[in-house]
Amino acid sequence: MSMIRSIVRGTGSALPARIMNNRDFDGVVETSDEWIVQRTGIRNRHIAGEGETTVSLAEAAARRAMEAAGVTVDEIDLIVLATATPNNTFPASSVQVQKRLGMRHGFAFDVQAVCSGFVFALTTADLYIRSGMAKRVLVIGAETFSRILDWEDRSTCVLFGDGAGALVLEASVGAGTAADRGVLVSKLRSDGEHEGKLFVDGGPSTTGTVGKLRMEGREVFKHAVGMITDVIEASFEALSIGPDDIDWFVPHQANRRIIDASAKKLGIAPEKVVITVEDHGNTSAASIPLAIDRAVRDGRIKSGDLVLLEAMGGGFTWGAVLVRW
Ligand code: ACO
Repeated sequence: MSMIRSIVRGTGSALPARIMNNRDFDGVVETSDEWIVQRTGIRNRHIAGEGETTVSLAEAAARRAMEAAGVTVDEIDLIVLATATPNNTFPASSVQVQKRLGMRHGFAFDVQAVCSGFVFALTTADLYIRSGMAKRVLVIGAETFSRILDWEDRSTCVLFGDGAGALVLEASVGAGTAADRGVLVSKLRSDGEHEGKLFVDGGPSTTGTVGKLRMEGREVFKHAVGMITDVIEASFEALSIGPDDIDWFVPHQANRRIIDASAKKLGIAPEKVVITVEDHGNTSAASIPLAIDRAVRDGRIKSGDLVLLEAMGGGFTWGAVLVRW
């Protein structure tokens, strides 16, 4: 039976100009290139400079995605922006992006699911498209985690970076089968029981301040692989497919060890895994669209490919999406 599908028309991304490598932590915290690479796989991350913000990076990524899609802002109905580091508590960063793009119609809102934000935003956009409320949606993940890091805490400040990525999604009619292009399956989860394992110790309604990121890294690690693989297996089951049927696996880029362990547990071949954590660090909601944009632009992800996205983050929140390009 035919149905509306949300297909990806174009991708874009943006990174701050400044690159900070592991050796640049000399004089900041006591750490080493060897420790960071061995525990996380991270070598470089981009750090926002003066004037570079979540909104400015989101705008740049959105413009590139629209250019790649061959659409103008007049053709966009909705902006869904995933971020945990908005420019302001309000208005939503998506509305500020809307203004910068010169978009005076439609609507825009932010989604907050920390590192899983992009998966939640993409799923939300897909539902708006499939309900008929929007035809073309800009889905953006944008973050400036460098601004909420405790730069004296070596167990967290070496892990994160800044950046933004965006997709243009468009309504298209599919046959309602797994061969359709577009978003095919989404599985979302959260469990607030884990709120104290990865959080920011401030907020408008508690301290009246922004706060800094706090994490029990080992606890997050302990839960990550199981949660990630559960939602992916549920996604595979929903389409009656297995790991060999996917062309690309684009996981949230938090830690190379989590990515490798998840792929191994699921039986996904290493050559199908898109990895950018080495160059970007953990950019939270921006990590998946940044990785997607790289793999699209270097020719790996092509039309017709089945792409698996997955993320897990603060809350905890976690989820997986299968998209046929
Ligand atoms: N440099 C050198 N030593 C360090 C550093 C550092 N940057 N950070 C911590 N250490 C030390 C600790 O002080 C500790 O020393 P001690 O044994 O003398 O007390 C030792 O290294 C081990 O610390 P652990 O925290 O137990 O190290 P672990 O092996 O667990 O690695 C890490 C830490 C990399 C954070 C790991 O737990 C991890 O990857 N967790 C997953 C968290 C994650 O990826 N979060 C991202 C956000 S959530 C998400 O996006 C999924």
